[in-house]
Amino acid sequence: MNIAVFASGSGSNAQKIFERFEQHSHIKVALLVCNKPEAYVIDRAKNFGIPVLLVDKSSFSDENFLLPALKKHNIEFIVLAGFLWLIPAYLIKAYPNKMVNIHPALLPKYGGKGMHGAHVHNAVYENKEKESGISIHFVNEIYDSGEVIFQATCLVEGLQPEEIANEVLKLEHHHFPEVIEKLLSK
Ligand code: GAR
Repeated sequence: MNIAVFASGSGSNAQKIFERFEQHSHIKVALLVCNKPEAYVIDRAKNFGIPVLLVDKSSFSDENFLLPALKKHNIEFIVLAGFLWLIPAYLIKAYPNKMVNIHPALLPKYGGKGMHGAHVHNAVYENKEKESGISIHFVNEIYDSGEVIFQATCLVEGLQPEEIANEVLKLEHHHFPEVIEKLLSK
């Protein structure tokens, strides 16, 4: 089963996924799709010999560009790991229930457009939440609203936003590769 990872930033989650499936019996990360030419995740993919496809707004919205590229690499499943653009409808149709995203909060709280990274952790801090966590969900056409597959929580009472971010990232690194593996082994 060939999977594509979509990522826009540092790619620490992508790194964990690359590591998990590097020697896997039936799952292979066959492509990184990235929308930022300077993103560190590109270096990480290259270290694993994973091909990189760079997209811009116009190529990403063009199904005649992206679908053949995914097909060329036999991509059957897509993992969004810190990819911040809304996924176009044609891609969701092409991968029904075959695309998952990780969100750094307990959805449905702190989701939606603009809710990513530090924005999420700042909001959790401002609202004096006692706990936060991660949500892994299927992707549909509305930001962060597809069916939730997995959640894990951590205590964040009294923590600063950066500390909350660290706790949440630890959960992501621990659980995301495992949840993907379980989904793809059913
Ligand atoms: C992760 O915390 C992920 O949950 C978040 O971006 C970060 C990427 O970190 N995604 C979102 O906020 C999506 N709304 P990474 O580049 O180190 O993996």
